[in-house]
Amino acid sequence: MTSTTEQNRVLIFDTTLRDGEQSPGATMSHDEKLEIAALLDEMGVDIIEAGFPIASEGDFEAVKAISKNAKNAVICGLARASLTDIDRAWEAVKYAARPRIHTFIGTSPLHRDITALTQEAMIDKIAATVTHARNLCDNVQWSPMDATRTEHDFLCRVVETAIKSGASTINIPDTVGYTAPRESADLIAMLLERVPGAEKVVFSTHCHNDLGMATANSLAAVEAGARQIECTINGLGERAGNTALEEVVMAMRVRHDIMPFDTAIDTTKIMNLSRRVAQVSGFAVQFNKAVVGKNAFLHESGIHQDGVLKNVQTFEIMRPEDIGLTAKNIAMGKHSGRAALRAKLAELGFELGDNQLKDVFVRFKALADRKKEIFDEDLVALMQDTASTGENDYLQIRRLRVVCGTDGPQEAELTMQVGDTEATIDATGDGPVDATFNAVRMLYPHDAQLELYQVHAVTEGTDAQATVSVRLSKDGQVYSGQSADTDTVVASARAYVNALNRLHLHQNRANNSALMKSAG
Ligand code: KIV
Ligand code: ZN
Repeated sequence: MTSTTEQNRVLIFDTTLRDGEQSPGATMSHDEKLEIAALLDEMGVDIIEAGFPIASEGDFEAVKAISKNAKNAVICGLARASLTDIDRAWEAVKYAARPRIHTFIGTSPLHRDITALTQEAMIDKIAATVTHARNLCDNVQWSPMDATRTEHDFLCRVVETAIKSGASTINIPDTVGYTAPRESADLIAMLLERVPGAEKVVFSTHCHNDLGMATANSLAAVEAGARQIECTINGLGERAGNTALEEVVMAMRVRHDIMPFDTAIDTTKIMNLSRRVAQVSGFAVQFNKAVVGKNAFLHESGIHQDGVLKNVQTFEIMRPEDIGLTAKNIAMGKHSGRAALRAKLAELGFELGDNQLKDVFVRFKALADRKKEIFDEDLVALMQDTASTGENDYLQIRRLRVVCGTDGPQEAELTMQVGDTEATIDATGDGPVDATFNAVRMLYPHDAQLELYQVHAVTEGTDAQATVSVRLSKDGQVYSGQSADTDTVVASARAYVNALNRLHLHQNRANNSALMKSAG
C-alpha cells in the first residue's frame, strides 16, 4: 500500500530545454543548455526533458552531454512515433543514470487528418513505437498530442494501448491551451476510471497557456489524480508558453491546506533559475509575472507599505526568501569589502573561488564608482557578464568612443584586440549601436546572422545598468553573448563580442578536429 506522502508526491517534469527552447527566438547555445540543466538538477526537478534529439545535431549533442552530466534527475529525450526518432532519442539519453524516452503522436481528428491515419492504423503505430521504445529503455513516457481535443472513447483506447505496450507515464497534453480547469480535471478522472491498467502508471499533465489557464489546468489535473506536471521556468514555450514551474510549485506550497501535494523542488533556487533562463533565452520576465516578476514583492502604494511594515502577511502570501530573493533589496555600495561581496553573492547562489572573486571585485568596484546603489539584480547581471568574459578571449575590446548627435550618422571609433593584433577603426551607422557593430564587423569580418539584440534595464533610474543579449547564428549553430553596463552601447559591444568569441572558439575546435581526422 502506498503512503499518503507517496500518493501526494507530484513529479516535476521540466521541459524548458525542449518545449521552452522550441519557442521562436528562444534558442540556447550548447553551453547554456548544459548550465540550465545542471541548475534544474540541483533545484530538485525530477525529470528534465533535455531536447528533441532527432531535430538537429545540436539538440542531439546537448541531450547526450546533459545525460552524461546529470546527477539525480531522470533525463528525457523526445521522439515522434517513428522508430528512427526513438533510436536517436535513445542514442542521446542512454548515457544518463536514469534515462527516459518520451514518444508522442497527435491523436485528435485534426492530427489524424494530417497524418492520414485511421484510428486502427494509429493504434497499431502506437503499439509498435511504444514497444520499440520499451525494448530500449525501462522508462517510457507516451503522449497523445492534442489530447484535450481527442474523442474520449478513442483517447481511452490509445492510452490503454500505450500502457499495454510498456509506457509507465501517460502524459495528457493540452497542446493548444484550449481546456479549462474543470474539464482538465474531468479528463484525468475519466481516464483513471475507464482505462484498464491506469492505476499502474503515472498520469501527467502538459498545458499551454493560450488562454492564461495553464497553471490552473495543471493544478486541476493534479487534484483529479495526475502526479506529474510538465512545465517550464518562467512559463517559456511556444506561443503563450507552457505552465510555469514556479507558479505550480509555489501554489502547492502556499495553499498546501487545500492542495496537499509535495514536490522535491528547493524553491530558494527558483529566482536564480528564472533570471538565468530569461537571460539565455532572451525572453525577459514581465514585471508583474506571478512569483518571479520584478514587482511580485514590491509594495508601492502607501496603504500596502504601511500594512507590510506592520505585519508582512497583510499583503504577502509568500516570503521573498522562499524563492531565493534576499529580503534586503539594497545590496551593496562602494564601501563594501571583498568578504561582504562574497557573502552577498553566495546568498544569490554564486559560490566563488578566490581568483574569481578577485576578478568580480574589480568589476564590482568599477560599477560602484558609477552607480550609487548596487541592487541584487546588478550583482546578478555582473556575474552573468563575468561568466562570458575571459582574458584569453580571441576578441577583446580595448577602447570604444561613440559620437552621437541629432544630425547625421553616428560614429564609433573602436580599438579591439583580434588574436595577437590590436587594431583601430572608425565606422558609421544608423544609431550608436549600429555604428559600433559595424566597427566590430570591420575588424572581425564574419557572416554570422544577428538573430536577436535585446536591451533590458536591470533596475530603475538613469544610472541603471543595461543588460544586453545578442544572439548570432551560423550554419545552424547558435552563439549568444550577454553583457551588462551602465552604458548601453558598451554593454552592446561587449555582448556582441562575447557571442563572436563563442563562434570563434567553436570554429577553431571544429577546424582542429577536422585536422586531427585528416592527420590520422
Ligand atoms: O504540446 C504538446 O502536445 C507537446 C507534446 C510533444 C508533448 O509538447
Ligand atoms: Zn507542448
